[in-house]
Amino acid sequence: MTDPVAIQFRETDIEALAGREGRIALIVNSEGKMGPEARRLNKLTRGALARAIGSEAFTKLKPAESIELGWPGGLAAEALQIIKLDRKACLAEARKAGALVGKVLGEKGALVLAGNHPLSCQVAFGLALRAYRFDYHSEAKPAPGPVVVMVANPEKTAARAAPHAALAEGVFFTRDLVNEPANILTTDDFAARLAAMQELGLEVEILEEDELKKLGMRALLGVGQGSESPSKVVVMRWNGGGDEAPLALVGKGVVFDTGGISIKPAGGMEEMTMDMGGAGVVSGVMRTLALRKAKANVVGLVGLVENMPDGRAQRPGDIVKSMKGDTIEVINTDAEGRLVLADVLWYAQERFAPRAMINLATLTGAIIIALGHENAGLFGNDEGFVGQIAEAARAEGEGAWPMPLQPAYDTLIKSRLADIKNTGGRPAGSITAAAFLKRFVKDEVPWCHIDIAGVALPPGETALAPKGPTGWGVMTLDRLIRDKFEG
Ligand code: BES
Ligand code: MN
Ligand code: ZN
Repeated sequence: MTDPVAIQFRETDIEALAGREGRIALIVNSEGKMGPEARRLNKLTRGALARAIGSEAFTKLKPAESIELGWPGGLAAEALQIIKLDRKACLAEARKAGALVGKVLGEKGALVLAGNHPLSCQVAFGLALRAYRFDYHSEAKPAPGPVVVMVANPEKTAARAAPHAALAEGVFFTRDLVNEPANILTTDDFAARLAAMQELGLEVEILEEDELKKLGMRALLGVGQGSESPSKVVVMRWNGGGDEAPLALVGKGVVFDTGGISIKPAGGMEEMTMDMGGAGVVSGVMRTLALRKAKANVVGLVGLVENMPDGRAQRPGDIVKSMKGDTIEVINTDAEGRLVLADVLWYAQERFAPRAMINLATLTGAIIIALGHENAGLFGNDEGFVGQIAEAARAEGEGAWPMPLQPAYDTLIKSRLADIKNTGGRPAGSITAAAFLKRFVKDEVPWCHIDIAGVALPPGETALAPKGPTGWGVMTLDRLIRDKFEG
């Protein structure tokens, strides 16, 4: 796993500034008030810092933006970065401020001067998230160097930052899984990475194909039957909350989606290595919960399959029987995620009788048409529960927006031959996918389906991630669990 950069909190020491190599980042409020660190840096740079802070360029900065002095005279540092951030900044701004440093972090590391800013641990967290690196270049770049954050109260800040270390690890675990190509992250490899989390105190169980057959998961098995990689369901349990019914998290884990016999066009198909993104988020959340020893019962279930065309592959027109017993006409083998989720959702309810259930999936291209890459789509059977998830996402600065799911849409997925069909045509494509899932959710279970196709792997960098996977949802779900399922 990619490890987050090491961050140390230390007491502010103005004697250490002149000789510090790498980068120095200074947090300054919008009035440009200079504390003791700034005054020392100003003296060392013979007034350059005060001129920068007094400049129009600084005045024009928005919160969590920066200007920088390159190779400043009087300092050993290669850059002095001046970041505008007020004391009353919101959490997302503080993280974004730290991310400005994480984005340009080199092997010599950085010294961040946060003074007595109340959100200095959020600054550090944002820095760690944005400093994520992942590639297979044969000439490896040196890892980004150590980070020291100087603050007024290092013990208190370090204590507040501890849960963030668990969260950063969870986010990085998710991002790594989404980044891995499908020749490496096979269903076997994915399951092995999850089994390795037993060391953290998670209970991990792997259900193999013969067991899935016995359980009657023919909808899930049909998707994987054209692949050389065996289909699996992995169950991860974190029991930190006594004998309460658990929250169930269910993830779509299609390690590669060719579309199957309804094959996708070649252009962009390589992106379908990310089609296990929902399972990736579930896995990242479970990792975070274990690392921070959450006081809640949560069960994570992922359906791991590969959707390939083959002589044995499922065909359009095939009719399969789900574990629930409903028959499904497969109109398009590329609408495979809902077939996988149908069985895992049903299994989760039958076995665990959860208090509430959330599933995450890179389910439809249509959600990208509706919401772009800014928001995940939220669908559910309980407005209050969906609202709680929207609120957790808002608090974490992750975009999420409620979508409609009325019974009227059910008519679009009626089948002549079976109980239901797996596509409803182009209109409301993400809603008919949700309507399909709803059929496999018991009325009494508060449930939310989160379509993350647009946010799991956006086309460019985001505030807290380089170009590539974001790990969208790990922070939101961890916050939801902290606020609504713990204590
Ligand atoms: N995995 C895709 C959805 C997707 C598209 C995720 C783009 C990320 C980026 C899903 O399995 C799929 O192929 N959905 C089809 C459904 C259609 C056949 C009803 C789609 O969205 O086109
Ligand atoms: Mn598909
Ligand atoms: Zn898919």
